[in-house]
Amino acid sequence: MPPALVRSRIQGLELPPFDPLNRRAAELRGDGHPVISLGQAVPFFPPPGPALQAAREALARPEVHRYATDPGLPELRAILADRLTSATGTPTTRDDVIITAGGNHAFTLALTTLVDAGDEVILPAPYFTNHQMAVVAAGAAAIEAPMADRSMFAVRWADIEPHVTPRTKAVVLCNPSNPTGAPVEPEDGRRIIGELARRGILVISDETYMQFVYDGAHWSAASVPDWRRNVIVIGTFSKSFGMMGWRVGFLLADAPVCEQAIKVQDAMIICAPTISQMAVEAAVRHCWSYPLSFHDELRRRRAVLAGGLAGIAGLHWTPTRGGLFAFARVDGCTDSAGLSRDLLERAFVVTIPGASFGRSGEGFLRLSYGYATAAEVEEAVSRLRRFFAAA
Ligand SMILES: Cc1ncc(COP(=O)(O)O)c(C=O)c1O
Repeated sequence: MPPALVRSRIQGLELPPFDPLNRRAAELRGDGHPVISLGQAVPFFPPPGPALQAAREALARPEVHRYATDPGLPELRAILADRLTSATGTPTTRDDVIITAGGNHAFTLALTTLVDAGDEVILPAPYFTNHQMAVVAAGAAAIEAPMADRSMFAVRWADIEPHVTPRTKAVVLCNPSNPTGAPVEPEDGRRIIGELARRGILVISDETYMQFVYDGAHWSAASVPDWRRNVIVIGTFSKSFGMMGWRVGFLLADAPVCEQAIKVQDAMIICAPTISQMAVEAAVRHCWSYPLSFHDELRRRRAVLAGGLAGIAGLHWTPTRGGLFAFARVDGCTDSAGLSRDLLERAFVVTIPGASFGRSGEGFLRLSYGYATAAEVEEAVSRLRRFFAAA
């Protein structure tokens, strides 16, 4: 089939550089080089025991081989709604929840249900690359709204407002952010939601890292008392339970919106994998707070990274309160993709170029402390120090 038959907007999309970098890292490892990856947006811990136990037991149940109902297993939706009610302080029922095949699928489900071709969707930047890709794939325009705060990356209404036009359909929040690790501060979040609600504009709040806020509590967009007017929350169990490959996430929206979205879900995937839902249900029921038990270790790794980066002239990072990332500014850098490639070839450290997170990310590097051990983070930072000293 001639590639020209592929939609031009899809042809225009660029895959994030993760795969080529990881492939090159594997080659270098194969050649015996001691590559350390600070590239992975994943936590280091395995799934909780009850989830694995539930999956083992599920194999003996005939219903595990069947489709679940489109919006997900009722018992998973119900227990998740309870947990979200406790976490946000606003009542949520299982009719407000759809179980999806991960957070990215929840995001595309929200877009397909709510956004028309030609609509504008504002992405406070630096943004999560897959959000931009999904918006463009949906035929909408991804509008990059650079955040003025270049040290802590706070998302502020003042930086979003100039980008609002009569065609704006939605604003995407990523809280805490991938790539910056910055959470949305409650006062800013409430202001943004209120201003947008008055203008009839949606807020799609990706809270993938909701259980990775290390200082203070996570503030959810669903904690606004009248969130149902214009808020959709995206979540996932990939990170919280170390279950990336199980593909389970969720979409939280007012029940009538969910009723519409279920039609799209049926056409897209019918349901999230049944066995994965059974495993996740056990984790949500028995160990909702599981990720919190790793916070001390993640804080330790963040501190090692922060201390190391502070000792490198020309690199700047003010530690953020959540996520798994440092988003470090590199003095004089205008080609973060080239810099990442050099770091891999010469220092054997995988980093992610800031430019993959929008134009306003150019000049930065994303470094993850989620997967590498504290000792690996320390070694990686020493290599960065030598690299920049020699540059
Ligand atoms: C902000 C954000 N949203 C969504 C996802 C995708 O998660 P899932 O595995 O649930 O699709 C990621 C993964 O890195 C992420 O960082």
